[in-house]
Amino acid sequence: MLEAMASAKVGDDVLGDDPTVAALERRFADLFGKDAALFMPSGTMANQCAVAAHIVPGEEVIVEANAHIFQYEGGGLARIAGAHVNMILGERGMLPLPDLAHSFRPPSVHMPRTGLVCVEQTHLFSGGSILPIEYLEEVHSMAAHYSVAVHMDGARIFNAQAETSLDFQRYGAVCESMAVSLCKGLSCPVGSMLMGDGAFIERARHVRKWMGGGMRQAGYLAACGLVALDEVLPVISEDNARCRRLSLAALALEGIQMAQETTDTNILFLEVTDPRLDAPMIESELAEKGVQALALGPRLLRFVTHSGITDADVDHAVMALQTILSHN
Ligand SMILES: Cc1ncc(COP(=O)(O)O)c(C=O)c1O
Repeated sequence: MLEAMASAKVGDDVLGDDPTVAALERRFADLFGKDAALFMPSGTMANQCAVAAHIVPGEEVIVEANAHIFQYEGGGLARIAGAHVNMILGERGMLPLPDLAHSFRPPSVHMPRTGLVCVEQTHLFSGGSILPIEYLEEVHSMAAHYSVAVHMDGARIFNAQAETSLDFQRYGAVCESMAVSLCKGLSCPVGSMLMGDGAFIERARHVRKWMGGGMRQAGYLAACGLVALDEVLPVISEDNARCRRLSLAALALEGIQMAQETTDTNILFLEVTDPRLDAPMIESELAEKGVQALALGPRLLRFVTHSGITDADVDHAVMALQTILSHN
């Protein structure tokens, strides 16, 4: 990627003439069967920009209660899009369909207008779980029935597709817009892509501008995305396999337990059950042994496998965990 950056041909993407950004946008739009794509500085900006391009302030956005777009984007739905949020507690990231069906508002002077439904593939909070395509198709057709658009936060959709082997265009067909991350499974240093139809992307380009997300010689960053499509995407299933190996080994250890039902992709949440230990303690002891995990609260630890993590690294992480758990 560093070599690709050094030799990238660049222009001015705010003026729309950066050839490397244009090439990356075309590749993503074609991959997902969308008219157009827009290079974005981050996943957060891609999501928030999408919502602001879909709705007018005061319209309602339906989200799953633990969705990243709602919980971890700094309140952007209210601050940036002026959204009225209806959050529904889901199961493994899925809004229960009967609850969703009841959430579309009838035309009424008393109520907000339903403007958008958001889904997240894979669902971070339930441990990278995969939302089945049949479920996404149901959500999409239900929303279409009420003339409401669907936005997919597909930050980790590549990890899902590596398991389902579905054509990317099937994922593109179940939403009006999709944000995908370049710097998660695809392992680029920076960036996300937002996709949709031409009119949506033009609205999103305007929102990106007023959010300050227009970048001039962005081709230096976009060059990494092209390398990722050619070299990282074909091997991304290895990250999922390594995470499953890590979960299996962790299951055998005393003092921790799985905090998710299954390990579908590359994320593993473990709960610390040993009362003498807590997640921040284990996080720092792991760091001393060269393993990076993330404590999320007093008892929850998150592990993520990604490009550059080898089988030997997984073995090392398991050994380190075992040592910490047995020495305390
Ligand atoms: C599901 C999901 N969506 C969006 C984002 C936002 O991406 P970024 O960190 O690039 O803003 C993240 C980041 O962790 C995420 O996990």
